[in-house]
Amino acid sequence: MFRIAHISDLHVLSRHATKWRQVLFNKRVTGYANLLLHRGRVYRREYLGAVLSDAAAWADHVVVTGDITNLSLEEEFEEARALLEGVGRTVEVTVVPGNHDVYLASVHVARRFRHYFGAFLRSDLPALARDLPAGPFPCVKLRGPAAIVALSSAVPRPPFVASGRVGDAQLAALREVLAHPEVARRTPVILVHHPPVDDRLCLAQLRDGLVDADRLRSVLASLDHGLVLFGHLHVRLRRSLRTAAGALDAIAASGAALDHPDPNVRAGFNAYEIGDRGGLDTAEAQVVIPGGGGLERLAVPEEGA
Ligand SMILES: [Fe+2]
Ligand SMILES: [Fe+2]
Repeated sequence: MFRIAHISDLHVLSRHATKWRQVLFNKRVTGYANLLLHRGRVYRREYLGAVLSDAAAWADHVVVTGDITNLSLEEEFEEARALLEGVGRTVEVTVVPGNHDVYLASVHVARRFRHYFGAFLRSDLPALARDLPAGPFPCVKLRGPAAIVALSSAVPRPPFVASGRVGDAQLAALREVLAHPEVARRTPVILVHHPPVDDRLCLAQLRDGLVDADRLRSVLASLDHGLVLFGHLHVRLRRSLRTAAGALDAIAASGAALDHPDPNVRAGFNAYEIGDRGGLDTAEAQVVIPGGGGLERLAVPEEGA
């Protein structure tokens, strides 16, 4: 049995990040507006602490599907790295970037991700990685029955655009990774920040979806089973993703620090158990109980169910 804890969208916020002098005249102002207006969402550091410590205690491996920082500020990266290093003292951690981790249109900012989180991105198949600004991706970790394959979908965008892209080079590399015998004999666990499937209109997908999701799905079409883990939506959900050879479980984790009345949105982590023969035995959520009552186990809702 191999246990994976899935955390997403920490949005670690520097206490100094909301000063107007730091946010005016560049894209960070849109992030600041999001902070104030984003559907009443409140991020609680004590919730995040409970989620990280329970995930570390429960799992064999912790995966983080992006938006680890909020405005890509150095101070946020420093705080986030300290939090993940705390988790890493108990259990191995793998991360992918989200749109908030490359918030400004600058390669310099994108490279912060690899600078701060490079220790969580040591691939077992480094020759198959492409050198992207956020780091070497795909990053592959062969662990027990699982082949964890981390992808970057984070690309700098103009203000008010939050869409992602895996890109042709990384997709070609992913095809090679999936064909590698050490990957092919395991259960693939694909990590990507943006949703791999999106039923919305094209315009909405271009604004904040994964613009090449169809191309990603075509690379995944050869798989007969496996997981595609993502974030970005700030809600927990699960859906089946049909492939030519079978079906994948596409599962989203919510924001790891969110305070919200809906338990499918509130802070928590997704808990997956992969059996020694490779199947997904359980997929459920562990969700913060408001008022300091710890975490409770809940089902991950099936989309459309
Ligand atoms: Fe997010
Ligand atoms: Fe996001």
